Amino acid sequence: AFEVRLERSGKTLEVSADQTIAQALQDNGVEVELSCEQGVCGTCLTALLEGEADHRDFYQTEVEQAANERIALCCSRARSPLLVLDL
Ligand code: FES
Repeated sequence: AFEVRLERSGKTLEVSADQTIAQALQDNGVEVELSCEQGVCGTCLTALLEGEADHRDFYQTEVEQAANERIALCCSRARSPLLVLDL
């Protein structure tokens, strides 16, 4: 599990091993725009302000993933204990 902090709304929530970031957000009443939910379409990409993503999407290039500026909420996870999202 890891934590996600929403910079704009000030919420912090835990993402357990058996749920996606998008599911954790929805469970906490945060609306997330989703489409493919498989890391393909890029709809759910969100700016990542702090923390290191474990990128699982197929939408961003390797260079973009390494830049660690955006994260796909439907499938990617965290390598750091906390991710701060621009939400
Ligand atoms: Fe398509 Fe996340 S919903 S990449």
